[in-house]
Amino acid sequence: MAKVSIIGAGMTGATTAHWLAERELADIVLVDVLEGMPQGKALDMFEAMPIIGKDVSIVGSNDYAATAGSDIIVITAGLPRKPGMSRDDLLTINADIVGKATLETLKYSPDAIFVILTNPLDTMAYHAMKVGKLPAHRVIGQAGILDSARMRAFVALETGVSVENINCFVLGGHGDEMVPLTKASNIAGIPLCDYIPAEKLEAIVNRTRKGGGEIVNLLKTGSAFYAPSAAIAQMVEAILKDKHLIVPCAAYMNGEYGLTDMFFGVPVQLGRKGIERILEYKLDADDKVAFDKSAASVKETIEALKGLVKL
Ligand code: APR
Repeated sequence: MAKVSIIGAGMTGATTAHWLAERELADIVLVDVLEGMPQGKALDMFEAMPIIGKDVSIVGSNDYAATAGSDIIVITAGLPRKPGMSRDDLLTINADIVGKATLETLKYSPDAIFVILTNPLDTMAYHAMKVGKLPAHRVIGQAGILDSARMRAFVALETGVSVENINCFVLGGHGDEMVPLTKASNIAGIPLCDYIPAEKLEAIVNRTRKGGGEIVNLLKTGSAFYAPSAAIAQMVEAILKDKHLIVPCAAYMNGEYGLTDMFFGVPVQLGRKGIERILEYKLDADDKVAFDKSAASVKETIEALKGLVKL
């Protein structure tokens, strides 16, 4: 059985474990700084396995040694932004958490593939890669699958068509400037812009861009975790099953789309080695403007991090 370790057993980390266990994809280790919490959640989840008939081991720990021999490390550990905390404060704190998690897990699983969720995720994925001195294909940021799923869900609500018929592609950084591609997105092959009236489509694009905030406003005490963790589970499955699945994820840019030395949301092909290749869309003029704006914003955060911590 493959092994997946999840660092950060909070809402997203634990729910990722849940999706993975339900699909019997891997033995799972949950690691968190809180004493007893990862152990308690893991034991509770393991006690559900006889009911759903899945034979996977689920273990919680405060010790990285438990992660030894993992095929994939998922990092969700981090703090949310609190009142009075500046963006730079959060950047420094989460970079410290993600950096430590990367180095500690690498000691025990030198060949693992890293899936990063902690925000700001494009920058945190960059940080993990640099700190761990990892080859680019082994570090993947989760965002595009989630943003695209939100758009697909909103299109399904608008049209009444099965979510399975709806293909949406959202590229760019994971922020308000993400780039939903309305011409490449389609319903059973029919471009969205030919299926949905322009003003309705614009409303869907706007709702997608603000999708994370919509959930935060409703929950009040946390951020989205069901859809983000389902996105991680899809990435983990694609890697473990060597599916060669094309999905939008944050990947290290080495000249693709004219971008260098940064992570950015683009279509990637996922398989057993991690990122097998990056696909390049021919963006039209409008999408290129939005794409470049989003890239500038991500680059700015990466540069801010470089000014705050040594890489
Ligand atoms: N090592 C391990 N776990 C840590 C560390 C650390 N150094 N620091 C914090 N954690 C744990 C927290 O104890 C908490 O259980 O990370 C977990 C984060 O879980 P939640 O607060 O429930 O956050 P969640 O909703 O899962 O979001 C995870 O994703 O959206 C991003 O950046 C955002 O930090 C957030 C992350």
